[in-house]
Amino acid sequence: MAENVLEIRHLKTQFFTRKGVLPAVDDVSIEVPAGKIVGLVGESGCGKSMTAMSVMGLLRHPGKVVAGEILLCGRDITHLSPRELAKIRGSEMSMIFQEPMTSLNPVTIVGKQVEETILLHEKCSRAEAKKRVIQIFQEVGIPEAEKRYNAYPHQLSGGLRQRVMIAMAMVCRPKLLIADEPTTALDVTIEAQILELFKKLRDEIGTSIILITHNMGVVAEVCDYVYVMYTGQVMEQAETFELFANTRHPYTKGLLRSIPKLDEKTDRLYTIKGVVPNLLHLPAGCNFSTRCGECMERCGKEQPPLYEVSPGHKVRCFLCQGACGTAAPEPETLRAAETGKEGV
Ligand SMILES: Nc1ncnc2c1ncn2[C@@H]1O[C@H](COP(=O)(O)OP(=O)(O)OP(=O)(O)O)[C@@H](O)[C@H]1O
Ligand SMILES: [Mg+2]
Repeated sequence: MAENVLEIRHLKTQFFTRKGVLPAVDDVSIEVPAGKIVGLVGESGCGKSMTAMSVMGLLRHPGKVVAGEILLCGRDITHLSPRELAKIRGSEMSMIFQEPMTSLNPVTIVGKQVEETILLHEKCSRAEAKKRVIQIFQEVGIPEAEKRYNAYPHQLSGGLRQRVMIAMAMVCRPKLLIADEPTTALDVTIEAQILELFKKLRDEIGTSIILITHNMGVVAEVCDYVYVMYTGQVMEQAETFELFANTRHPYTKGLLRSIPKLDEKTDRLYTIKGVVPNLLHLPAGCNFSTRCGECMERCGKEQPPLYEVSPGHKVRCFLCQGACGTAAPEPETLRAAETGKEGV
């Protein structure tokens, strides 16, 4: 099995607000294998960004990681100091955001900004750094790279600005890139080009990528693995093909039904009934129980664990209890086998 560049184990991130403790990330475990793209998908407010910010050490007060472990290339980075984290941010792991304009300095030419990232992390001359900036601009598909080096952010289109951000994130060759809704602000043609670029980074450089999106179409297009999140929890996880071919969680089914289909004539697009509950007032039992069309009595009382329904495919739903191929046999069956009798 491929080594994991990132392992998040039982991560809990909470916000200590005046109204109470808000469980933004609740016992989340995610594995990101080397050279793979892992999708984090789910409705607004389900904890995708806070999972990413926890990994990057970018949580702001009153948010705090209260439990769990984050391992980057096998190294536990959960309790690093802000200074130590700043050292590995940009060099070993990088993050890009939805709106590049907010992350770029409007009064400095973009080439210099990328150059600063190199100089911050590595010993190299300005001339050498400039050469590398132009090279990475070419790699991420910025045309006329030398000319664009001297451009101010406002002189570039949204798509080119996002490419500059990707260049900045990739220039020190991090093992892990986290992209938080990187194409949401772009039109579909440019979105497709940026998604192609992620695949290129994965295939040619071997970068591991966490791609955060609420778009299942984007997931199907580029992700190798998918984690579906809801109210801070992973509800379903699987390899992408398996998730689409063998969808198990009612929430995932709902998300997939919400995608418009060209071959179906409908007046109204399907939406999952109800709204995401307030994290300060979660329902008893399963967090999805209040919106679930397949809710059973038990679901309103108990929290389901993640059941492994096939290798690597896990589902947080009581409907999947017993679906696991490796479930421990019932004691009755065992006893029957020992004595050579049929189980009853
Ligand atoms: N500063 C804060 N104080 C209190 N709660 C916060 C704060 N920042 C985020 N949260 C809460 O944490 C939860 C998870 O938010 P998060 O930003 O991770 O969601 P998301 O899945 O990224 O959503 P979106 O798709 O809208 O980006 C939300 O309920 C949000 O209200
Ligand atoms: Mg977000």
